[in-house]
Amino acid sequence: MRIDIISVLPELMESPFQTSILKRAMQKGLAEVHFHQLRDWSIGKHRQIDDEPYGGGAGMIMMIEPIDKCISELKAERNYDEVIYLTPDGETLNQKIANTLSIKKNLIFLCGHYKGIDQRVRELHITKEISIGDYVLTGGELAACVLADSIIRLLPGVLNDEQSALTDCFQDNLLSPPIYTRPSEYKGLKVPDILLSGNSKKIEEWEHDQALKNTLEKRPDLLQEK
Ligand code: ADE
Repeated sequence: MRIDIISVLPELMESPFQTSILKRAMQKGLAEVHFHQLRDWSIGKHRQIDDEPYGGGAGMIMMIEPIDKCISELKAERNYDEVIYLTPDGETLNQKIANTLSIKKNLIFLCGHYKGIDQRVRELHITKEISIGDYVLTGGELAACVLADSIIRLLPGVLNDEQSALTDCFQDNLLSPPIYTRPSEYKGLKVPDILLSGNSKKIEEWEHDQALKNTLEKRPDLLQEK
């Protein structure tokens, strides 16, 4: 999979891809992430990429021309499955969206800044708008990292068997059951006997019950989605 990320602050996104699992995914050639500084497609000698809104009002708008030039150049090189704009008014990211995107080949992420992008960019290029939650970030960069992480970890070969994404919470609309490791007792706090019993069928049933209980308590909305 290849992800091209367009941003005015690409340096903000470097470290998540240079560490741990994402780094390994790149080294193994399972994912490629390319950053594009939008200012490289800026116009005029001031390297302008934003301008005042027509109709007045506060805040600057990202101009269509630099974004169009950048995306068109990328599209001339390869076919993209989706051109995604990270924006608080997009569809809220969830596991299902991450699963769907993880089987694509080439993706473009466009990170918004200031008050957002000229509406005509959406009409011309954007195929999907994604938000990472109902709050406003200073720009789309951190959201792009979150989205890329949620997708790349699902690519075959990125996680090993023990980390398998199939057992993630949310994969079946259930939160995870409580988990424990050694010691079996700490300051009087005991690991549930069933987990020490060695009875794998009973353990599986217990874990499922606990997952259901957790979900009912913390996220009952997930059970209604089924
Ligand atoms: N840009 C600013 N806020 C955002 C959010 N919540 N999700 C995605 N992109 C954003």
